[in-house]
Amino acid sequence: MTAQYVLAIDQGTTSSRAIVFTHAGTIFSSAQIEHDQIFPRAGWVEHNPDQIWTNVREVVGIALTRGNLTHDDIAAIGITNQRETAVVWDRTTGKPVYNAIVWQDTRTQSIVDELGGSEGAEKYKSRVGLPLATYFSGPKVKWILDNVDGAREKAERGDLMFGNTDSWVLWNMTGGVDGGVHITDVTNASRTMLMNIDTLTWNEDIAAEMTIPMSMLPEIRSSSEVYGVGRERGMVPGVPIAGILGDQQAATFGQACFEKGTAKNTYGTGNFMLLNTGTEPVASKNGLLTTVCYKIGDAPQVYALEGSIAVTGSLIQWLRDNLGMFEDARDVEYYARKVETNGGAYFVPAFSGLFAPYWRPDARGALVGLTRFVNKNHIARAALEATAFQTREVLDAMNADSGVDLTELKVDGGMVANELLMQFQADILDVDVVRPQVAETTALGAAYAAGIAVGFWNGEQDVIDNWAEDKRWTPSMENSERERQYRLWKKAVSKTFDWVDSDVV
Ligand SMILES: Nc1ncnc2c1ncn2[C@@H]1O[C@H](COP(=O)(O)OP(=O)(O)OP(=O)(O)O)[C@@H](O)[C@H]1O
Ligand SMILES: [Mg+2]
Repeated sequence: MTAQYVLAIDQGTTSSRAIVFTHAGTIFSSAQIEHDQIFPRAGWVEHNPDQIWTNVREVVGIALTRGNLTHDDIAAIGITNQRETAVVWDRTTGKPVYNAIVWQDTRTQSIVDELGGSEGAEKYKSRVGLPLATYFSGPKVKWILDNVDGAREKAERGDLMFGNTDSWVLWNMTGGVDGGVHITDVTNASRTMLMNIDTLTWNEDIAAEMTIPMSMLPEIRSSSEVYGVGRERGMVPGVPIAGILGDQQAATFGQACFEKGTAKNTYGTGNFMLLNTGTEPVASKNGLLTTVCYKIGDAPQVYALEGSIAVTGSLIQWLRDNLGMFEDARDVEYYARKVETNGGAYFVPAFSGLFAPYWRPDARGALVGLTRFVNKNHIARAALEATAFQTREVLDAMNADSGVDLTELKVDGGMVANELLMQFQADILDVDVVRPQVAETTALGAAYAAGIAVGFWNGEQDVIDNWAEDKRWTPSMENSERERQYRLWKKAVSKTFDWVDSDVV
């Protein structure tokens, strides 16, 4: 019998998941394991790449077992991943030389300032589509080479490899030190600051300015083609690994946003809205990123404008873990529903500065508008509203850049289970918010990319046909009230600027 399923590995910021999908695009079985968030000091965020690899193998094994499947039942494997997070490892030992430096980590601010010099944050933008920021991989690699004993010498001898976690997982799955392939896809490469956004090749000048030897960089391939086959150690011997998409691009793919002008917004650790702009890169004038959306085999690449918000779901985790406000992230809705409004409180979670549309590394979080009236419930509500307000800012930027107003927003990710948030989101945007039946669109998109490469699915039309609406929220807020609240939000944001002085850590 031919294989009936496709496996997706979603190596995320907080966890790794393995999900087995059916031909109809529904979830057959899955497994998920969280990994440690390592905070060595304020602003630093690391993951242990060995722990991530162990977890990936484990979730693959569990997902197959739960579905009563073996690797023979799997037609192809797709990988999707937290983007930008940088892993540097030794190609001869297979050992990382340092922990992975996570996308949220801000330790590279001085490297970024130095690289920008008199030209500032826009220096590389026309070449790579991105402003200089701590968010992207290149400066993180430079930090490792500058700061880890012996790393630069090893890199110059050609002994080190760099990759986002897609490359790290793929290299390990395909054999590691024993013949593993060192490859990334165009969407991940577009987040390094090292790839030319128009030609999809590494930019040697920028790599040289960041003092990163070219030998460290993975080969750039499309998002949907066979890169190699799994080996025993990856639990899936002989199965083709045939799709890679960065998590946000994967969600865009899984949401069937194939037409120019279609968009999705994912509510996870952070929020990421991507708008398909077709086969030409569009430069943003409003604080959005130009990024590769996907490339299927030899077909022309498709681009997107992206609004990246660093902190949304992680603010809920922060209330849970750092303040102990509740046990489970979903309980935030219970508290928020106990009150009708935010009580005047606005919570701007600029924990790693502000990303889109501001790009202000000097900002830090603020909870403003406090009076003795404000209680725990108002704060829970303000934290949820922060996600919706930040999304409104990004949507406004999208509309301004594209010149067309989006008429509805497809949403996905962990936070879209929150009905209070979804209604408030529709109210603040004044557009319909639509949730699909399969909310795991990130894994789904990676599965589709892999399945299309091996002929399990025929192409984008299958993705469109399988997509189905679950629920729709329609705006019900008065215009004047919407604008009043949004104005106060903007005022709150302005209070977070200029916090970081050179002597603030
Ligand atoms: N009911 C809920 N209400 C509000 N927030 C929620 C709810 N359920 C989950 N969250 C938040 O959603 C986030 C998890 O969503 P999701 O699983 O999509 O994250 P993710 O970004 O995919 O994780 P990763 O970064 O590992 O990929 C967490 O930050 C959590 O705080
Ligand atoms: Mg995710």
